[in-house]
Order: sequence, then structure tokens, then C-alpha cells
Amino acid sequence: MPEKKLIAGNWKMNGSLEANDALVRALVAGMRDARCDVAVCVPAPYLAQVQMLRHGAKLDLGAQDVSQHAQGAYTGEVSAAMLREFGVRFCIVGHSERRQYHGETDGLVAEKAKTALAHGITPIVCVGETLAEREAGKTEEVVKRQLAAVIHVNGHCISEIVVAYEPVWAIGTGKTASPEQAQQVHALLRKQLAAATAQAERVHILYGGSMNAANAASLLAQPDIDGGLIGGASLKAPDFLQIIAAASA
Ligand code: PGA
Repeated sequence: MPEKKLIAGNWKMNGSLEANDALVRALVAGMRDARCDVAVCVPAPYLAQVQMLRHGAKLDLGAQDVSQHAQGAYTGEVSAAMLREFGVRFCIVGHSERRQYHGETDGLVAEKAKTALAHGITPIVCVGETLAEREAGKTEEVVKRQLAAVIHVNGHCISEIVVAYEPVWAIGTGKTASPEQAQQVHALLRKQLAAATAQAERVHILYGGSMNAANAASLLAQPDIDGGLIGGASLKAPDFLQIIAAASA
């Protein structure tokens, strides 16, 4: 497993100038002793604000999506080069909400990961099954298919990505995968990465889906859970700081 865990907040479409200011100041003040890597993935309009607020702190900046295109007539899209100009280090790609509401396919997600990598941004590639898929015994098939597309397009660069296993039924529902359920899928993903790169052990495989201050420690204690992608609990500084503390233990 990687040397340090990675805790990434996914603010989704939440925040305001005022709320972000209070949240980031509290995080920067509270995470001085963190022994894990920490990032916040913020809505694009707030990148400049958070870049200024985090100045000098160990808090990395992330985006929530990126265009697969370099530039041009793509109204509403944001390019990887633009994100880079704002000091973005991570970018979530293929979040289940984008797959579900914006029709993102496995192939598109793989292209977005490639574009991010080409601009020095680490893609956090999300995979995960729906409840219906889990109940039909298709969890393994679904996550393998999703990751295989990214491996196919990115070749040996695959060791540079971060993977996030986010069972769709656990996102924002308060239902977390048990540490054993999550570990089982993480081990599968690690094996799949190992077939593609000799560096699979250094790839962060994060768990996401209702991770919170109460359940973080037991999830993070699993051998193949290298951190978390946290939605709801990343909007509350005390909760997010407790997760950071659990990942620093
Ligand atoms: P949640 O979201 O922690 O609110 O369940 C996680 C995510 O969607 O990244």
C-alpha cells in the first residue's frame, strides 16, 4: 500500500464564498499534524478562492470534472490546462453522479483520465456498482469493466492514477459498505491493477460512500483501503478533521 493515506473531500455542488472561507480556514488550522495527504475537490468557480486560502498549507486542490478536449468550441466545459493554472493537483473523473445524470460512459471517463494525466493532474477515477447490480451478483463484473476501460486507454501510466471505489448505493445514503465488503472489492481492483503495472502497490485505492467520522477508522484499517473520497462529511470541518486524524493514525 502507498506510504501515506489520501483523504479527499468532494464538495459536489455545495459552497459559497462565505462558507468556503470558514471551512478552509478551519481545515488549514486543524490539520497541522496530519500525517496523510489531504485534498478538497471544489466547484470550478471556487478554485481561485480556495487556492488563495490554502496558500502554504498542505491542503491540495482538486476539481470535480474535466473536459476530454484540449480547447475550443465546447461551451460550458473546463479544460485540464485551465485547472492546472489554478494549481489543481487532483481531478475526480467518472463520479457516479456524472455517469448517471450526464451520461458519461466508461470510454469517456478513460479519455478524461488521460487528458488529466497529460496535464500533470492526478485523476481520481470512480468506479462502483448500483444496488441492483450488487443484488444481481454483478459487482465484480461492473467495477472490473469500468477500470479496464481506463487501463486500456492509459497503458503504463495507470500507476499514476487514484482509484475510488464508490458503491452507488452507499453514496449520500448513510449506508456504508462494511469494511469487509469494501476490502473485498479493493483487493480485486488491486489485482486488476497489478496485471497492468508493476507499481500497483503504490496506487491509492480510496473508499467512498457515506464515510464519516464514526466509520472511517475501521474502513481505513483494511489492507487495501488507502484513503477516502468523502462527500457530505467533507463539508463539516470537525467531521472532516476527524477522518483526517483517523487516516493519520
Ligand atoms: P458521500 O459522497 O460521502 O456523501 O456518500 C461520496 C461521494 O459521492 O464522493
